[in-house]
Amino acid sequence: MVETSAMSGLTTGHAPFVEEARHRGELYISQPYSLYSQENHEAWNALYTRIRPRWERYANDHFLKGLEALHLSPDGVPRLSGINRRLEPLTGFQAKPVSGYVPGFLFFDCLRRREFPTTITIRPKDRMDYLPEPDIFHDIAGHVPMHTEKAFADTLVRFGDCAHTAVEMTASVRDRQERTRRLTSIIRAMSRFFWFTVEVGLLRGPRGVCAYGSGLLSSFSELQHAIESVEVQRYPLQMEWVINQVAEIDHYQPLLFVADSFDHVFELVDRLERWMREGKLNNVAPGLPDVSEEDLRSYMDAANER
Ligand SMILES: [Fe+2]
Repeated sequence: MVETSAMSGLTTGHAPFVEEARHRGELYISQPYSLYSQENHEAWNALYTRIRPRWERYANDHFLKGLEALHLSPDGVPRLSGINRRLEPLTGFQAKPVSGYVPGFLFFDCLRRREFPTTITIRPKDRMDYLPEPDIFHDIAGHVPMHTEKAFADTLVRFGDCAHTAVEMTASVRDRQERTRRLTSIIRAMSRFFWFTVEVGLLRGPRGVCAYGSGLLSSFSELQHAIESVEVQRYPLQMEWVINQVAEIDHYQPLLFVADSFDHVFELVDRLERWMREGKLNNVAPGLPDVSEEDLRSYMDAANER
């Protein structure tokens, strides 16, 4: 089996090491660095080299500083241990390797502990552009440089607090159907807010509108499209709108929200939690994203453990 792993490397969809861990029910894993194949390292190099000039042009300044602070480079897939050694002293965050999808509550709870669930596989070299699932380029090159910024890092922690508040607010609802309905609405509101900020957020910066959302920062083509295309609607970040806006993740975003600053996003997460407590998130507009059984169960289990 070791031979198979070494031959397949850690390629998205073909990574025996990760698949076996998943079958054993292990969510948190290690990064077996020696398993990366030559092709894996070449894929990282190609992705990094291609997008770097677009980061200079379209990424926010904190992201560019983060790249430097973490010594990210095109020289092959990075070691998480090296990144964490530089990241931890800055904001306390760590990249934590996982074997696959982390259900909603567990994901936010990790953020609360300043641990960022990180995919260790990398997309195949011949599929550079679109991948429905995250890979290490998305997680490390797209997300982690932002975790060097204090207000942004604190915002992620507050998302974790919100997940705990969601458990608290719904645990006492006796009627199971009503409890599921409310929880579904709250999870949907949180997912939309996370999506339109952390994943595809835009920021007003000294050089004009720039990107801070990791989905944009890890996509060569969408990064430019998000900032330049006349077809994209860009509006000031508004809570009322965001929590009710359908979030489609499988094509270029036609609608993006522009934050004034990371302090602005931080304040809005406070408001998200306040609205949750006031019951305002119990009836958000239906539609995407879907809330999976697995996500719901993660919140229910957390409530049962209280
Ligand atoms: Fe992401």
